[in-house]
Amino acid sequence: MTTTTPRPIRARERKLPHPPYRLPVLGDVWDLHVTDSSQWGMRGAQKYGGIYERNIFGARVTYVSDPDLLREINDDELWSKFLGVPIRDLRSVAGDGLFTAHNSEPNWAKAHAVLAPSFTAAAMRGYHATMRRCADELIEHWAGRAGEWVDVPADTNKVALEVIGRTGFGYEFESFTRTDPHPVVSAMLRALTYINRSAYSHPLIECTVFRQQRAQHRADVAMVNAKIDEVIAHRRREGAGEHGDLLDRMLTVADPDTGTLLDEKNIRNQILTFLAAGHETSAGVMAFALHYLSVHPEIAERARREITEIWTGEEIEFEQVAKLRYVRRIVDETLRLWPTAPGYFRKARANTLLGGRYPFEKNEWVFVVLLQLHRHELWGGDPESFDPDRFLPERVRARHPELYRPFGVGMRACIGRQFAYHEIALVLATVLRKFDLHADPNYELKVKETITLKPNGLRLRLSPRRD
Ligand code: HEM
Repeated sequence: MTTTTPRPIRARERKLPHPPYRLPVLGDVWDLHVTDSSQWGMRGAQKYGGIYERNIFGARVTYVSDPDLLREINDDELWSKFLGVPIRDLRSVAGDGLFTAHNSEPNWAKAHAVLAPSFTAAAMRGYHATMRRCADELIEHWAGRAGEWVDVPADTNKVALEVIGRTGFGYEFESFTRTDPHPVVSAMLRALTYINRSAYSHPLIECTVFRQQRAQHRADVAMVNAKIDEVIAHRRREGAGEHGDLLDRMLTVADPDTGTLLDEKNIRNQILTFLAAGHETSAGVMAFALHYLSVHPEIAERARREITEIWTGEEIEFEQVAKLRYVRRIVDETLRLWPTAPGYFRKARANTLLGGRYPFEKNEWVFVVLLQLHRHELWGGDPESFDPDRFLPERVRARHPELYRPFGVGMRACIGRQFAYHEIALVLATVLRKFDLHADPNYELKVKETITLKPNGLRLRLSPRRD
């Protein structure tokens, strides 16, 4: 009997499509796009296919948007979360918080066990009244500007920030009453912009050319940390346990495995994480959805019919939000076209032959291009068109299981998914019930990338509806 030894896996034998004119040493560096990197990743996939690579000074970046290959890549037994460059750099702000923790860091498992119960669909009941108050503040703000152009992404950012600030740790940023942004918000925004810009830079360049910005970044991080420490200390003085928010839970609930509470620094990191991960993402979805609703009045009308049927009293009740099935499909379709976290990184747990063809050595990584996966030909018809009925239950059941992943995958998937659906549906329903939306006829959707996506320069006119 003869046995065949499997061929060893060697990364250098991996041959993938790549941009033409690859240069020695520099590789495909001429084809690198640092400002719109996710949209560039999508365009690359449209040219080179569902798996391709760019080689930047010898470092290989593999882009995947083929749903069949994702069956393996999304499987936690075979691949796991990888902290790609922009996420790794976020650690300078959020340390070992849930989003930026390494898989092996004990604080990830501990915080996940403590916090997961705060993010179930049932837990949303406790946040509903607060979310509703934040949505009402947005409505009041816009009612005072009827007929004027409103800066939609700026205002959806405000509402999402208030939601996470108040439900997370009982903090009001006063976004709708201040004339200038809250100093913590300005510092965080500067910090995220710095991280996004410097992600692909060299430390030497940061210490020289960008010396001032680097110093500003350090000052910003120190200021945000000090402010959060103040919030935690204030809660301790007040007495934790009565507020039913994330901070209460972190201060009072022990990890069931170790029997210990989260440490002080980790609690600060989690608060920063929720502020960063839980606000721009949801705000971007609200803004994109309002854009599509303004240019598709027939979709807005259909949603309004549903809202009128379900939201019968003065205020929308918790159970009614989940019954807004068409509004939910609008949210899903918005997240299909513009997944506001536009991709995620995965690394191979062991040497593997991806799809039976492409050798990857242990710890090599890929970037999953959600923007292209969500436009894959398996979606049928014109993938660029906005059609919420793609998410009718029978169509969801018939779909390839890896075709839609806006919240990531596996054990490191988004903990805030239910939270995001609830707040976005609630805000959209409240806005649609109160206003007619008027698009700027000269506006063409342009998407701005920081770490998340948002519709650049989107403005709408809103006119109050007569009930
Ligand atoms: C529509 C809005 C949102 C989108 C599109 C989104 C997307 C994502 C994605 C793709 C990941 C996985 C990232 C990776 O694999 O590297 C993630 C993780 C995470 N998200 Fe969200 N997110 C949203 C809203 C929220 C909200 C509202 C919160 C909190 C209130 C939140 C908190 C987190 C956290 C803590 C993680 C890390 C989870 C872990 O690794 O254990 N997200 N999110």
